[in-house]
Amino acid sequence: MTKKNILLLAGDGIGPEIMLEAKKIIDWFNKNKKLDIDYSEELVGGASYDENETPLTDQVLYKAMDSDAVLLGAVGGPKWDTVDFAKKPERALLRLRKEMRLFANLRPAICFEELVSASSLKPEVISGLDILIVRELTGGIYFGEPRGIEPIENGERRGVNTHVYTSKEIRRVAKVAFDLALKRNKKVTSADKSNVMEAGLLWKEEVQALYDEHAMYKSISLNHMLADNCAMQLVRNPKQFDVIVTDNLFGDMLSDEAAMLTGSLGMLPSASLSEKDKHGRTRSMYEPCHGSAPDIAGKGIANPIAMILSFAMALKYSLNFDQEAELLESAIKLVLKDGLRTADITEKGKQNVSTTQMGDAVIAKLELKK
Ligand SMILES: NC(=O)c1ccc[n+]([C@@H]2O[C@H](COP(=O)([O-])OP(=O)(O)OC[C@H]3O[C@@H](n4cnc5c(N)ncnc54)[C@H](O)[C@@H]3O)[C@@H](O)[C@H]2O)c1
Repeated sequence: MTKKNILLLAGDGIGPEIMLEAKKIIDWFNKNKKLDIDYSEELVGGASYDENETPLTDQVLYKAMDSDAVLLGAVGGPKWDTVDFAKKPERALLRLRKEMRLFANLRPAICFEELVSASSLKPEVISGLDILIVRELTGGIYFGEPRGIEPIENGERRGVNTHVYTSKEIRRVAKVAFDLALKRNKKVTSADKSNVMEAGLLWKEEVQALYDEHAMYKSISLNHMLADNCAMQLVRNPKQFDVIVTDNLFGDMLSDEAAMLTGSLGMLPSASLSEKDKHGRTRSMYEPCHGSAPDIAGKGIANPIAMILSFAMALKYSLNFDQEAELLESAIKLVLKDGLRTADITEKGKQNVSTTQMGDAVIAKLELKK
C-alpha cells in the first residue's frame, strides 16, 4: 500500500482539542487497518500569528500543497480581534483555498437518526436526510472585478461587486457534482437565478450542456431550480434532494441552511477540492463547518465528531479508502445510538461525555469491528 501524507493544521480555540481525537482515529487505522497514513502537524491561524507574525507561513503553504490531504481544525478568536486585517487568523483559510485552487466545496447535510429531535423541523421531514451541497468556491461575486466602494455625486457612495462566471468555471464544478451523484442517488439539482441574472442563465445553460454532452451522466436526473425556490424547498421537503450544485454566493447561503436542518454545528464536516494538476494530483482540504468556538475552548467539552467526519471524508475523497470511511461513519452512529452526547447535542436521558470520551467511544466501536 502506498504511503499517504496528510498535513494536520489544528489552529485555534477548540481546534487542537478536536484534532487530538482525529489523530487517535488516524493512529487506530494505521495500526489496525495498515493504512500507512503519515501525518505531520503545523501551526495555522492565530497560533501561527503568535509564533511567526503571519497566520500562514510560506513553508506551511508549500507543505499543504504537497500533501495528499490537509485536515484543518479551526482558526480565529477574540485574542486576535485587533490584529491587522491582512494578518487575521481567518486569512490563512482564504490563502490556502486560493493557492491550493480549491474550487469545489462539498458540504454534506446528513441527519443522524439518533439526533432527529435536534432539528427544528418535524422528524418525518428530516429523518433519513442525506444531501450533498457542492458549492463553487473561487469565483462569482466574492471575487469578481470591478469591486469596491467609490464616491459619487452629492457626497453619496456606491458599493460595487461583480457577479461573473466563465463556462469553464461552471463546467468544472458541475462535473464534480455529476461525478459525485453517480456514486450516490443519481440526482442533481442545479440552483441559479437564471430568471434575473445573465450569469445565472449561463450557469444553467452550461450545466445542461455538460450533462447533454456526456452519455455517462444519462443515469442521473438533472433539474434546474431557482435558488430562492431551492431555499424554500430545503425547509419544505429537503429529502427531494440528492446533490445540489450552485455558485459561490447561493452556495454560501444554501449550505448553511441545509447544514442547520440537521441540528448541530458540531456534527458537520466539509471538503474542498481542486482540479487535477498536470501530474493527475488533486489538492484537498477537510475541515469542520464550525469555527474555533472560543466560548468553550479549553473546557474539554467540544464535540469532535465534525472533525472526525472530516477525516472520514478525506478517507473517501482523497485517500481512496471508501470502506474505512464507511467503517468510521458507522462507528459514530453506534456511539450516538448508545446515547453518548457532548454538551452541544445533549438530550434528556442521554449520557453527557467530554471531547476525549467521545473520541475514545468511537475507537471502542471501531475495536468491535477490527
Ligand atoms: N473554518 C474556520 O476556521 C472558521 C469558521 C467559522 C468561524 N471561524 C472563526 O471562529 C471564531 C468563532 O466564531 P463563531 O463563534 O461565530 O462560530 P463557532 O462555530 O466557533 O461557534 C458558534 C457556536 O457553536 C458552538 N460550537 C461550535 N463548534 C462546536 C463543537 N465542535 N462542539 C460544541 N459546540 C460547538 C460554539 O461553542 C458557539 O456557541 C471566530 O473568530 C470566527 O472568525 C472560523
